[in-house]
Amino acid sequence: MKVLLTGANGFVGSHILDSLCAQGIATAVLLRPASNRRFIEIHLPQVEVRNGSIGDLASLGAAMQDVTHVIHCAGCTKALRAQDFHEVNHHGTHNVVAAANQRSEQIKRFVHISSLAAGRPALPGDPAREDDPPGPVSEYGRSKLAGEQAVRNSCKTEHVILRPPAVYGPRDGEFLRLFKAVRAHLLPRIGGGRQALSFVFVKDLAEAAVTCLTHPAAAGKTFYVASPEIQTAIAVADEIAAQMKTWTVSLPLPIAALWPVCFLQEAVSRLSRKPNVLSLQKYAELRAAGWVCDPGRLRQELDFVCATTLRSGIAETLAWYRQHEWL
Ligand SMILES: NC(=O)c1ccc[n+]([C@@H]2O[C@H](COP(=O)([O-])OP(=O)(O)OC[C@H]3O[C@@H](n4cnc5c(N)ncnc54)[C@H](OP(=O)(O)O)[C@@H]3O)[C@@H](O)[C@H]2O)c1
Repeated sequence: MKVLLTGANGFVGSHILDSLCAQGIATAVLLRPASNRRFIEIHLPQVEVRNGSIGDLASLGAAMQDVTHVIHCAGCTKALRAQDFHEVNHHGTHNVVAAANQRSEQIKRFVHISSLAAGRPALPGDPAREDDPPGPVSEYGRSKLAGEQAVRNSCKTEHVILRPPAVYGPRDGEFLRLFKAVRAHLLPRIGGGRQALSFVFVKDLAEAAVTCLTHPAAAGKTFYVASPEIQTAIAVADEIAAQMKTWTVSLPLPIAALWPVCFLQEAVSRLSRKPNVLSLQKYAELRAAGWVCDPGRLRQELDFVCATTLRSGIAETLAWYRQHEWL
């Protein structure tokens, strides 16, 4: 068995690489020349680096040489223009599938990391399930859904699609903002902060991805990969504040004020040429009543539970941020 992992140097991909290496699975990683390797330095002596981009079919063809399994984790989560999401999450995925198809007799399984955003907003009483009609509300979600469709409709080998909700854990720069806000005692409460949310701790997601490489019951299926706990932004912030042993003052940000804030942040991002997760693309996701999914299929069919509680996941994340002086 030999796995090609795309997106290996990113937040989620680096944890998948940790899991693959911990299990002694031979792995090749697809990296671009400018890809930052800080999270995966420790593994570089034992993995093969294959230079390429998911935008370049020829490089993907070469990268697939002698691999038997693919985990496609590369993706675009923030962008300056809608088309940037589609270029990576849709067309890039289409390329990875096309390259795998050229070696369909050699490649046994293709695991694709998608997103809850490709599904639909949902509340605890009616959580998103895999067979629901998809209803993405953002350009990111639409591009992830188009990527899924490229896998479902064109992939000649067995495939598995994983849909994580918001992912948190060591090495994540997005949740870090929330930790920093708590440290500054100021907590923006978007729409009251009561949006119902599913989460997954990054190490649980990584284990699920590696499990799906070989689990016989996973073939051809889509799974929501999430902790069974349902949270709100307030509960998460309160947990962080409790663990940091600090206090916070709420900064209410009503939904009506959200659009101008997203508009302003997008203007700043465009001027600085640095995409930010807070943008007009994200506005529709932020104003949804909830993003809750049901991980029941994963439990019932693969006997897999994302067991890390919010409390222990936050503790591990906080410890990592402090140890690495991110906080
Ligand atoms: N983080 C979350 O909360 C979350 C939630 C649900 C789903 N996901 C999905 O999880 C996956 C990983 O996300 P992440 O949070 O780990 O993001 P990330 O840290 O930004 O990592 C993205 C990875 O994709 C790679 N990539 C982007 N464009 C590429 C290209 N053209 N060719 C080759 N590699 C390319 C990046 O490589 P470079 O370093 O070279 O740019 C990087 O390794 C994505 O598919 C995302 O949609 C994430």
